[in-house]
Amino acid sequence: MKHEPTRLWGVSLLSAWLAIGCVLLAGSGSAYARDTAMLNALQLQQLVDDAHAKFKDVKEGKNANYIPILDTIPSELFGVAIALPDGTIFTAGDVDYRFAIESTSKPFTAALVMQQYGGPAAVAEKIGVEPTGLPFNSKLAVEVLEARSVNPLVNAGAMASVSMVKASSEDERWKMVLDNLSDFAGDKLPLMEEVYNSEYTTSFGNRGIANNLYNYERLYADPEEVLRVYTKQCSVGVTTKDLAIMGATLANGGVNPKTGKRLIDQKHVPELLAIMLTAGFYDGSGYWSMTAGLPSKTGVGGGIVSVVPGKMAIAAFSPRLDEHGNSVRAQRAIRYIAGELGVGIFGPNAD
Ligand code: DON
Repeated sequence: MKHEPTRLWGVSLLSAWLAIGCVLLAGSGSAYARDTAMLNALQLQQLVDDAHAKFKDVKEGKNANYIPILDTIPSELFGVAIALPDGTIFTAGDVDYRFAIESTSKPFTAALVMQQYGGPAAVAEKIGVEPTGLPFNSKLAVEVLEARSVNPLVNAGAMASVSMVKASSEDERWKMVLDNLSDFAGDKLPLMEEVYNSEYTTSFGNRGIANNLYNYERLYADPEEVLRVYTKQCSVGVTTKDLAIMGATLANGGVNPKTGKRLIDQKHVPELLAIMLTAGFYDGSGYWSMTAGLPSKTGVGGGIVSVVPGKMAIAAFSPRLDEHGNSVRAQRAIRYIAGELGVGIFGPNAD
């Protein structure tokens, strides 16, 4: 367990952030102002420690098992992290354990596509940006919704995103996807070969979706190539710390705080966050928005990343999932932290 905050860029930027918070929030009289204006590094560290301690004994949910290897990951693993826009990170629990990124990768590839096409219009037109109200792997959505792929955060739309990545070969497509995820993390991320083999050899559902999309002319490259690259994307290994930095890059307006590299234009970050808010939890997005109020993305590997625009990212990981495919403990930890800080984007939640 790591309890000391890691100061990547020193405390001066943290202090500046806190001071800005004080100026912006002073006098508003809300719980939000009271809570965030008083924050300091020790309190943020205490908060991640508390979140970890509070939910570590929760046993609800089950590991994903439709990807056989995910069922073998120790269910007790649990990591929690907050990363600030300057890269300062506060952690508790198993934050260095590497797990499969799965669907938490999807907004970052959507960001790559937005960059390559000069903004979100191409995503809206060629994929769609509506929530489906259906599970992440829904075949029904592809049939009944006119956009077919529907949005870049469900499997269909995420495969459409991969197919839109401008590349002249499968290798190049994969390299662009992997390099982009690594750039968001500010670290070289590995492909977890065992996860890839386990997932690709059981990808009957996603293969059906890819072929169906292609049939509807809503997939823009060879379906089997797209399926392979998409499955590799989902099999990239991340730690809870990596996820926090990926989120902090969005909280920081699109610039990775570790490397200083811009990955998405600042003006397009809100558009990406809007898609994360409405579709990041699939058919659980409404409840999540109501109770946590943060643009987020989940993955069946057990990771969740949430973004507080301009202020921080909160990431958590634990393998047991609820019926929507979202980590039970990670949801509780993030909701708790967001609630304690009062940083839901619509204001502090009443409950
Ligand atoms: O395509 C799949 O089913 C997985 N690679 C990803 C699904 C996922 O992570 C859903 N999220 N909670």
